[in-house]
Amino acid sequence: MDESPFLVRRANAKDAQKLRAIRLESLADTPEAYGSTYEDSVKWSRLKWRIAAAKWNYFFGERDGEVVGMASGGFNDSHPGTHWLFGMYVTPSARGTGVAGQLVEAVSEWARGEGAKSLYLHVTESVTRARAFYEKMGFRLNGESIKMDRDRSMTLVTMVRNLD
Ligand SMILES: CC(C)(COP(=O)(O)OP(=O)(O)OC[C@H]1O[C@@H](n2cnc3c(N)ncnc32)[C@H](O)[C@@H]1OP(=O)(O)O)[C@@H](O)C(=O)NCCC(=O)NCCS
Repeated sequence: MDESPFLVRRANAKDAQKLRAIRLESLADTPEAYGSTYEDSVKWSRLKWRIAAAKWNYFFGERDGEVVGMASGGFNDSHPGTHWLFGMYVTPSARGTGVAGQLVEAVSEWARGEGAKSLYLHVTESVTRARAFYEKMGFRLNGESIKMDRDRSMTLVTMVRNLD
C-alpha cells in the first residue's frame, strides 16, 4: 500500500488559481532560484494563468487537497530536442517529506512519454539545497553554465538525469 500522504497529479485549466498561488509563493520564497520574478508574474491575467495551467505540463503535489509543491516539464529553445524540468518548488512545511522526489518522477514520466532519454534542468549555483536534492535524484552536472537573463550576477548550472 502507498503510505505517502501526497497525491501528485497533472494540473489542468481549472487549476489556474491554484497554480497562481503556489507559483507566486515560490517566487516570493526563493527569488534567486527562478528566472521569472514575483513582480512580473503577479501582473499576469486570469487568462494567462489558465493557459499555463492547461498547456504547460504542470504537476502539483497535494496533501489534504492543498497544493504543497509543483514542477513542470517543457522545452528549451536554446537546446532543440531536449526536455527540461522547470519551476520546481515545495512549500517549507513539506520539504524533506519525499513529495519533491515524486514531482521529479512525474516530470520524468512526462518526458519519457515524449520520447526523451534525458531530463535537463538549470539550477542557480548558490541554491545549495536544490542542488543537493537534484544530485540525490540522479541529476549530474554536465559542465555547462549560463548567466541568468534577468540578473547576470547569477550563474545557472545545467544538470542532466538519465531516463533509461
Ligand atoms: C528544491 C526543493 C524542491 C527540494 O525539495 P526538498 O523536499 O527540500 O528536498 P529533500 O529534503 O528531499 O532533499 C534536499 C537535500 O538537500 C540537503 N539539505 C537539506 N537541508 C539543507 C540545507 N539547509 N542546505 C543545503 N542542503 C540541504 C540534503 O542532502 C537533503 O537530502 P537528504 O534527504 O539526503 O537529507 C525544495 O527545497 C524547495 O522548494 N526549495 C526552494 C525552491 C528551490 O530552490 N527550487 C529549485 C529551483 S531550480
